[in-house]
Order: sequence, then C-alpha cells, then structure tokens
Amino acid sequence: MSRKAQPAADPRLETRLAGAKLRNPVLTASGTCGYGPEYADVLDYRRLGGFVGKSVTLNEQPGNEPERIVEVRAGLLNAIGLANVGLRSFIDEKIPFISTMPTVVFANVAGGSVEEYVEVAGTLDSYDCIAGIELNVSCPNVADGLMFGTDAVLLRRLVAAVRPAVKRGCLIVKLTPNVTDISTLARAAIDGGADALSLINTYCGLAIDTKTWKPMLANVTGGLSGPAIKPLALYNVHRVYRDVARAANIPIIGMGGIECTRDAIEFFLAGASAIAVGTALFIDPTIPVKIADGLSAYLAERGLSHVSELTGRLKL
Ligand SMILES: Cc1cc2nc3c(=O)[nH]c(=O)nc-3n(C[C@H](O)[C@H](O)[C@H](O)COP(=O)(O)O)c2cc1C
Repeated sequence: MSRKAQPAADPRLETRLAGAKLRNPVLTASGTCGYGPEYADVLDYRRLGGFVGKSVTLNEQPGNEPERIVEVRAGLLNAIGLANVGLRSFIDEKIPFISTMPTVVFANVAGGSVEEYVEVAGTLDSYDCIAGIELNVSCPNVADGLMFGTDAVLLRRLVAAVRPAVKRGCLIVKLTPNVTDISTLARAAIDGGADALSLINTYCGLAIDTKTWKPMLANVTGGLSGPAIKPLALYNVHRVYRDVARAANIPIIGMGGIECTRDAIEFFLAGASAIAVGTALFIDPTIPVKIADGLSAYLAERGLSHVSELTGRLKL
C-alpha cells in the first residue's frame, strides 16, 4: 500500500480537521482497530480519512481480567481497561509501521496524571507520522479513568498543560457522555486549548448473567458502544455543537454506533465535521470505506459541492 498507489480522492470529501488534511471525513475510533498493523489486510488505509490508534499510556498496562468484552442487545460492553504496550514500546514497535501507513494517523493518549499526559502527548507529537493527539479523558473502565473528563476545572487545567507540549500536530479532546452537562466539559476543553473535540466515548453499563447472578464482565461494569448508543451520541454532538463548538469554530468528530452512510449523515447534520467508526468494524472492517463512498453518492444525489455543507444543518 504505497502512497504512490493512492486512489483518486473525491474533492467534495476532502476535509481539514484542525490543520490536518484528510482525504475524507471518515476515521476509525480509538481502541477498535489496534495500532494499525492489525487491520492492514482488511481495511484499505489509502481510502480512509484518518486512523486513530488505541490509547497509549506512559507505562505498559495489562488491562482488566477477562471477560473484557460481552455482546449485549444492539451493542458491546467492554472493560478492556486501557491495555496497551506503553510509550517506549509504542515508539519502538508501532511507530515504524505507522510511518508507512498511507493515511493520516492520530495517536490517542491516556494517563493517570497531568504529568503523564504531558509526557506521552509531547513525545508522540514530535513524530512526523503523527498528525495529532487525541486525549482520552473519558475511559470508564479504569480507576480514575473519568477523573479529568467529568470535572471541568481539572479538564481545563489538563488541556492547558498539554497544549504547549503539542506543538506540531493538532490537539483533540475526547469527551465522555457520563456527565450531567457535556457542554460544560466541552467549553473547558476549548478554553484549555483544544483544536477539536471527539464525541463520544462509551456509556457506563452493566450486564448480568442470570444463571450465576454475576456480572458478565470481570470488571463488573463496562463501556457501552454500538447502535444502542447512536441516538444518545447524536444528542451529545447536537448539544455541544449548538452550545459551544459552533460559536468557537471548533470541529467535532462524531462517533457512537455509526454503521452506515445514513448514520454518518445524521452526525454531520447534528454538527460533526468528521465521523469515526468503532464497534461496527468488528462486523465489517470495510465500513469506513463504504461510508466514504456512500457520502460521495449522497452529495451527488443532493447536488451538494462539499460534505461540510451538511455540518450542523439540522432543521429545527
Ligand atoms: C473494544 C473497545 C475498545 C475501546 N478502546 C478505546 C481506547 O483505548 N481509547 C478511547 O479513547 N476509546 C476507546 N473506545 C471507545 C471508542 O473509540 C468509541 O468512542 C466508542 O466505542 C463509541 O463508538 P462506536 O459505538 O462506534 O464503537 C473503545 C471502544 C471499544 C468498543
């Protein structure tokens, strides 16, 4: 998959996301497609708008005990617990492949302290093959995983501390829906210096085995993703776009249950400038490419000259 062999892009889909130039506004969602090599045979990265890798922390983390994923009606409940190789191994073992990926790559960063976020984000920002950093302040599956994402004062401080460390790429903040008022958190992230927002991470959930009366996940609770959360995710994108992002001119990457072009269009109309596919990749890893093709067809059918003409155009 060399860059030379890049198939022609549809100019109506070309998207600038906080400085990053994407061939289309369709990305992968963090944690659902590894670090890149895992999907190389099944997802044509040349036709993807951008790839967001699995969360990276300073030190390697084993994650939670199994069971870590269960299927529930219309979705998945996961408690992976940020299992990852850690910064050093990510650089030594994953960056060489990432630097050959024929798409725009964003690194997703998680941490337990401000210092950890600053170190990991700043280090990864120095690699040319990383177009931006997505800060995961919204993991429901580790102790303290939601600490920064649910407290506006802490979140603003965290983003403001990371901001100067991310000099080259863009800084995206990924928010949790597990709050009373997501717009307050979005405002805090923007005030701290975020260039873009990712909405949303998973919803806290629980599944119980009625034979054993035990939770299905070893971690007891997990994060709910997939079609079950799509209307909720759309609501959050709509709220943040109207309350904060539109006026601040901050793009939103919408995600949560997107499986097809129609789902994606709903997110654009609600206020997203780009979208990401997560859980649906487990059903069909080519869905992002199908959505990009579907968007081209939809724009042609509606006589629209650019996908950005959909953003926030929900008629009220
Ligand atoms: C198995 C699994 C692992 C995930 N791991 C991460 C992660 O490491 N970092 C992160 O920011 N989000 C993670 N997420 C959340 C997704 O990126 C996404 O925000 C969420 O699943 C909603 O999108 P979806 O319904 O299309 O999956 C994970 C989701 C799943 C299902």
